[in-house]
Amino acid sequence: MAHPVLADRIRSAFAEDVRLGLTRSPQKELPSKYLYDDVGSALFDVITVLPEYGVTRAEERVLMAHAGDLARLVPDATLVAELGSGSGRKTRRILDALSTRRRITYCPIEISPAALAQCERALGDLERVDIAGYQNEYLDGLKRIVEERRRTGDRLLVMFLGSTIGNFRRLAAAHFLRDIRHLMRPGDALILGADLLKPEAVLVNAYDDPAGVTAAFNLNLLGRLNRELGANFDLREFEHEARFDPVAGAIEMHLRSRRDQTVTIEAAGCAIEFAEGETIWTEASHKYTRDDIVQMGDVAGFSLTAQWTDTEWPFAESLFIAR
Ligand code: AVI
Repeated sequence: MAHPVLADRIRSAFAEDVRLGLTRSPQKELPSKYLYDDVGSALFDVITVLPEYGVTRAEERVLMAHAGDLARLVPDATLVAELGSGSGRKTRRILDALSTRRRITYCPIEISPAALAQCERALGDLERVDIAGYQNEYLDGLKRIVEERRRTGDRLLVMFLGSTIGNFRRLAAAHFLRDIRHLMRPGDALILGADLLKPEAVLVNAYDDPAGVTAAFNLNLLGRLNRELGANFDLREFEHEARFDPVAGAIEMHLRSRRDQTVTIEAAGCAIEFAEGETIWTEASHKYTRDDIVQMGDVAGFSLTAQWTDTEWPFAESLFIAR
């Protein structure tokens, strides 16, 4: 649990983001980071095992096959920072491979204390790995890690897996990589997982699965507004929609109002009108080509050392070195 003063500040920022997003015209929107409260995170865990959503399994296969290659290419990485907390098999496999040569320090960065604790439980048994979690936003956490943990001679490996980069708009993604690069030194490494472009029908099925798990994940955002900000959304009066934007190369999630309605959000001090059919845009998942990824890294100041892909579900894991 956050300190009460901090919790208040977080709630006010949440309320302000909601007010700004829902009063935006012509397209109402809510930031996708708010999808992940405890319920949303649990639903996302289910999404990762859905047959229609191949992203997580593809990345796992790539890392299972190439963690050894990664460790050979950055044999002297001693400080590993992960943006997001890897609770699963993929992070374990990388840490295992890296720590066969020397003792390493692994620093997961995560805003949720529960996720950090889960990560420590899941990976705490690795023998030659010291774990130090950082409860921060990604860049703040990375800044603290290099200031507090980096010793002379340490080589840093930053891991940004799961195609979370895809949830940034393209320009924001490029800026984010550049900001990461600024916190690194020449020779440091970045491993970036990104989902590749695939046919529209495959994407729509992955983001609107027939069991309705992704719909529940999306609708839970309105439930969260009710629980945490005193809103009065009737979740049954909204429906999930996944649509592909070919110009952005992104699959978007929306919540569509089933009728004309007004919703009040107490903590945000606003009443929002919805017309029948109007949507709230809640997430964009950008899909890349292999070249897009190389270029994005290059512009940010990285050179590509290796790129491994999955054949079953197009997905690329790219290893970059900071120039
Ligand atoms: C976390 N992120 C990479 C997921 C994605 O594919 O964009 C979130 C997600 N949204 C719907 N399904 C999964």
